[in-house]
Amino acid sequence: MAGPPIHELHYAQEPSVDEVPGPNSQRLLEKQSNVDSSAVAYPNNIPLAFEEGKGATLKDADGNVFLDFFAGIGVYNVGHANPYVNEGVHEQIDKLTHTVDFPTEPRLDLIEKLDDIAPGSLSGNSRVVFGGPTGSDAVEASIKLAKYNTGGNGLLAFRNSYHGATSGAMSITSNKKFKKPYAPLLADVVHAPFPYPFQEGRDPEASVEHALDEVQAIIEQPYGGLADPAGIFVEPIQGEGGVVTPPEGFLQGLRDIADDNDLPLVFDEIQVGMGRTGEWWGSQHYDVTPDVMTMAKALGGNGQPLSATLYKEELDSWGPGDHAGTYRGHVPAMVGGLRAIEYIESHDLLDHATAVGEQIRSRLRDAAEDDPGLGEVRGKGLFVGAEFVDEAGDPDKDRVEAIQQYCYEHGVLVWTAGQYSNVVRLLPPLVLTERQAEVGTEVIADAIAATADDAHA
Ligand SMILES: Cc1ncc(COP(=O)(O)O)c(C=O)c1O
Repeated sequence: MAGPPIHELHYAQEPSVDEVPGPNSQRLLEKQSNVDSSAVAYPNNIPLAFEEGKGATLKDADGNVFLDFFAGIGVYNVGHANPYVNEGVHEQIDKLTHTVDFPTEPRLDLIEKLDDIAPGSLSGNSRVVFGGPTGSDAVEASIKLAKYNTGGNGLLAFRNSYHGATSGAMSITSNKKFKKPYAPLLADVVHAPFPYPFQEGRDPEASVEHALDEVQAIIEQPYGGLADPAGIFVEPIQGEGGVVTPPEGFLQGLRDIADDNDLPLVFDEIQVGMGRTGEWWGSQHYDVTPDVMTMAKALGGNGQPLSATLYKEELDSWGPGDHAGTYRGHVPAMVGGLRAIEYIESHDLLDHATAVGEQIRSRLRDAAEDDPGLGEVRGKGLFVGAEFVDEAGDPDKDRVEAIQQYCYEHGVLVWTAGQYSNVVRLLPPLVLTERQAEVGTEVIADAIAATADDAHA
């Protein structure tokens, strides 16, 4: 057994919160506002300064203990300070941390392990390139790889998507406000609709058909708009867009269109990969294998920055140095990633995430029964979205903010998502216990009840 069982990882099974923010958090937040960048964002919604973490629990600078239902936005899949992961990382830090792309045991072990757990026909037939440390870097690599192999330059991406903050990744991202100050970005990018039955008001089948018709038209019709396509870029389940799980048939349809047109199909697994959804990769819920996939976030094991792009061997056409960077993988982060995968395997955390995720969704669906404002509860594994609408059926951002605030005051940290910020997004560590899930979801259900009257008065 790799490391201790999950119930030994946490400070507690329940939160214990005095007043928030406490005096130490207030002091640090004030200091931050004087010295840090004006781009700092997270503490605006959750005004706290953190001191330490264990498993699915976080302690702030005043000793308050929170249940962490956002896990550094999908980074701490094996929990904070996982002892099995930390042990290996500590040892590696004392030995060697940076080797550009010279071989080390951890590098090669991680590459082999990623090949082992790669989806479908990628397993046994993959290569991995490590670039810069963040997810956006992996997306940049995937764009370059697609262009390099096809000789094309047009990129097909999707509405409601998020792929990162660097220029190429921003180009395929759909958030207009986020990109506007920097436009023009990459020249030839077209965004097709992503099937989103709840917001479109269509049934799932019609939603898929509409999206695929658009993709096909953009790529295949003489006046489709994308002159020289290089690839199709998609999140198998959209994260920032609001935990949007596409209906059956969509990813397979993209696979077919990509094959018909000899284009690489690129899945961005940065948020949903590494076991988050109860499978190693989001694509496995749909049994569709991409040609290229990006990964980051939980890949570094204990929050160390590491990203990678895994692709089928036939696309391995770069010459030495054709994709480069000083940081081509941080060795302690590689140990972290390897140990995180071993911990997940050894403790059956994929099955656990499936069961506990269903437990959370089922409680939230109960809450939705007599609450017309809770329009839809969705997701897979420990990736949960709850979308709120007002009486007119329009997105209800204010209510989601109020729910987040209530949860924060009662010791549960949740995050938001969606193009209208009207989705409560839960992505707790996979080591969340059933008891923690129950306690945390009860707080969220209380928050939903406490905000219902205001919303539908
Ligand atoms: C699907 C997806 N792709 C790419 C990124 C960018 O990753 P990073 O913020 O590490 O650059 C994110 C970040 O949230 C993401 O969710």
